[in-house]
Amino acid sequence: MCKVIAVANVKGGVGKTTTVLNLGYALSELGKRVLLVDIDPQSNLTMGLGVNNPDELETTLYHLIMAVIDHKELPDKDKYILTFGNTDLIPCSIDLAGAGQFRLTSAMNRERVLDKILANLKDDYDYIIIDTAPTVTLLTVNALVACHTVLIPTTPEIFAVKGIELLLETLYQARDVNPAIAVEGILMTICDTRTNRFKTIYNDIQDAYGKAFRIFDTLIPISTKVGESNLYGRSIIEYQPNSKVAAAYREFAKELVSNG
Ligand SMILES: Nc1ncnc2c1ncn2[C@@H]1O[C@H](COP(=O)(O)OP(=O)(O)OP(=O)(O)O)[C@@H](O)[C@H]1O
Ligand SMILES: [Mg+2]
Repeated sequence: MCKVIAVANVKGGVGKTTTVLNLGYALSELGKRVLLVDIDPQSNLTMGLGVNNPDELETTLYHLIMAVIDHKELPDKDKYILTFGNTDLIPCSIDLAGAGQFRLTSAMNRERVLDKILANLKDDYDYIIIDTAPTVTLLTVNALVACHTVLIPTTPEIFAVKGIELLLETLYQARDVNPAIAVEGILMTICDTRTNRFKTIYNDIQDAYGKAFRIFDTLIPISTKVGESNLYGRSIIEYQPNSKVAAAYREFAKELVSNG
């Protein structure tokens, strides 16, 4: 059965996109069929896979959302799914920020548009992983409503932890539309485990959320290699397969699969 995971935290820059990209690659290395979905108008995931000008793509998530709103048929899958090695992507473009959100606001069943798009694809994949923007918008709500579980990356910083609280409030509201949304767990990213600050915040997170949610054992280490891999439009697993970050994302993928 296909599992749909939304990767979300209202705080920006906590490693959401990096996690989607590398988790996707690691899962496909484990033989899973993976679709990544970019629902962030910044299009970082799309660019992170090597698409330099997402706004020039003929068909992106924006066009699919417009088709659902206008009750038109979706184009053929090969028109909107891009393939990179073993990983597929529904790309995003900046149109989703302005026109896209404006049209979505007044659409019928406006929270369920992404869910409708994905319904068509669930037979083809083991995992669909959605990269969300660092803001609470109807797009984020669409991602939450469309998913089975929410994976929450957080850096060991107090503001990122506040972002978890805000996200959980949004998730509880989204449960009005999809009561079954569960939390996959919290993933600590960009960690410098040697510092006292890391230890303090890690303990704070355990105290605040450890009873209610799974906090993954894998800690994603901080590494300048991640920025370099972004520059080359590749996942860290491809760019530096023997790095600590690549190893951590592989380990995390195994932990996530064992979550069921
Ligand atoms: N493990 C890591 N070590 C060092 N830098 C990292 C690591 N993971 C991510 N980064 C860097 O941190 C920045 C933010 O990462 P990323 O874009 O994945 O976060 P995000 O949560 O998706 O951001 P946004 O909220 O803007 O969408 C990027 O410059 C990225 O290269
Ligand atoms: Mg991002």
